[in-house]
Order: sequence, then structure tokens, then C-alpha cells
Amino acid sequence: MNKPLLAGVIGNPIWHSKSPRLHNYWLKFHKINGYYIPIHVEPNKLEDNISDLISLGFRGVNVTIPYKSSILSFADTITDRAAVIGAANTLYFNSDGKITADNTDGYGFKKNIYHYFPSWMPANGPAVVLGAGGAAKAIIHTLLSEGVPRIKLLNRTKSKANAIAESFGNKVEVVDWYASDEALKDAISIVNTTSLGMVGQPDLKLNLKNISSNVLITDLVYNPVDTNLLKTAKTLGYNTVDGLGMLLYQAELGFSNWFNHKPDVTEELKAIMLEEDF
Ligand code: ATR
Repeated sequence: MNKPLLAGVIGNPIWHSKSPRLHNYWLKFHKINGYYIPIHVEPNKLEDNISDLISLGFRGVNVTIPYKSSILSFADTITDRAAVIGAANTLYFNSDGKITADNTDGYGFKKNIYHYFPSWMPANGPAVVLGAGGAAKAIIHTLLSEGVPRIKLLNRTKSKANAIAESFGNKVEVVDWYASDEALKDAISIVNTTSLGMVGQPDLKLNLKNISSNVLITDLVYNPVDTNLLKTAKTLGYNTVDGLGMLLYQAELGFSNWFNHKPDVTEELKAIMLEEDF
């Protein structure tokens, strides 16, 4: 038997993370000799624990709350997209012990949409992005790379939207949170990156009555998968994409690198991810 390949996810708290379920499903499904382990890391031990994982032979880790930004200071190489977003969710430990930090959220977002709508042409019109957290930055970066001509950014706390718009340049325009009706009118891509619609949170209420008929509405919330925003959009006949696929596709790059195998995102996997905690 060869030496097992090792990877995991670091965070604090960590036990709620769905990544072990996902990666361990793939390991079993693809019959790979490897393990994916959740690791609780104390803030003052972050650097030491990373060095320990490298010495133990780990191929890399996912990074979750609260280390997605602070981890960048320990990386030897930061991919362009992680640098622009200011956060990494995936680390690769190279054979020489060096660390590469990447952010795969935008990749997951894009891959998921093209899976369901291969003819999605975001460059054909403006987009509306709701929210101004870490996820919004990944989405804006991706939309701009896909050629979106103009992005209207709406956030409850306007100063956060202003800061993001400033960092991305003049294609991103901040619109008042309460002026969404007007902003939505000519959008062909609408993305909710806020936590509104998630279990325990109020719904994101948008007026979808006067919008473009060829709009694509994406919700990053995946708990529940069918948010009220998506339900309403579907009732009105618009194309929609839910947040679960993005979660799965963003994991593809880390898995491929650590375990030398490109994993499959299947409907069975989606169903397993939605099962109550076991
Ligand atoms: P992430 O890194 O996943 O994007 P985050 O940084 O916590 O998460 O951002 C959450 C987003 O949801 C923010 O845009 C937040 O708006 P504020 O910047 O005003 O806090 C948005 N959000 C959360 N609860 C909200 C609410 N009740 N109404 C409007 N926006 C809300």
C-alpha cells in the first residue's frame, strides 16, 4: 500500500464545516488512498500549525473563518485572484515546503453557472451584485473577468460597497440599497452574495416584476438551496442557479491538486450534501 495523501480544512470553529463530507465522498467515490481532515486551529498557533502540517506531509488545506485573510501573510505565492479578493480559501503545499494561496470561490461560481447554462453570456449586459462581503469580491472579480461591462453594487452598509467599488475601478458603480428596483431593470445577471434568505435570516425581497426576461438570477445561499428569492424568480419564469453547486465546484481545484484526480460533481453528491448532519 502506498502512503495515503493528506489534506484538510483549517478554521475556528471547524466542526460545522461541510468540506470533510464533500472531500471524503470524492475520496471514496474515486477510490483514492487519502484522507481529508477538519483541523481546529487557535489564532496564535496558525503559523506553527501550518508548518506542522507541511512537515507531516499534507498536500494542502482549505481555509475557512476566521483565517481567510490572515493566511495570506504566511503564503510564499498568492494567486492574482486571491490577491485581488484579499482572501484565500485553498492552500497548496509545494514539494519544496513553499505555500501557494488561492481563492477558488469565483471559479466555483462560474463553473456552476456554465454547467446549467452553457450559453450564459454575462458580457452582454450589466450585472447587479447584492452584498459587499468577501464573497461579493470574488463574484465581482469573476464577472469582470468574464467581460461584464458594468456592475451595480448594492449593500446595506454603503461604505463597504464604496470601498469595494474603489478597489475594482470604474466598471463598478455603487447604488443605494433601497434603490434596487431601478438597478435591476436592465440587469442580465443578478447575484445575491448577502446572507439574506439563509435559515434564521430574513428573506431578500427584490421586485422582480420589471426586469429583463433573459436575466439569470444566482443565489449564493445554499441553506436552504431553494431560497424564497429563487422560488419567486422561478415562478416568474426566470433562469436561476442555486448556491450548492458553487460550493461543490469551488472544491474541485483543491481536490485535483492534492489528490491528483479531477472529481465529479454529481446529483448524488448534491443530495448527500443536503442530508441532515450525521
Ligand atoms: P461573506 O464573507 O460570506 O460575504 P460577510 O462578510 O459576513 O460574508 O457579508 C455578509 C453580507 O450580507 C454583507 O453584505 C451584509 O451587509 P452589511 O455589510 O450591511 O452588514 C449582508 N447582510 C447580512 N444581513 C443583512 C440584512 N439583514 N440586511 C441586509 N444585508 C445583510
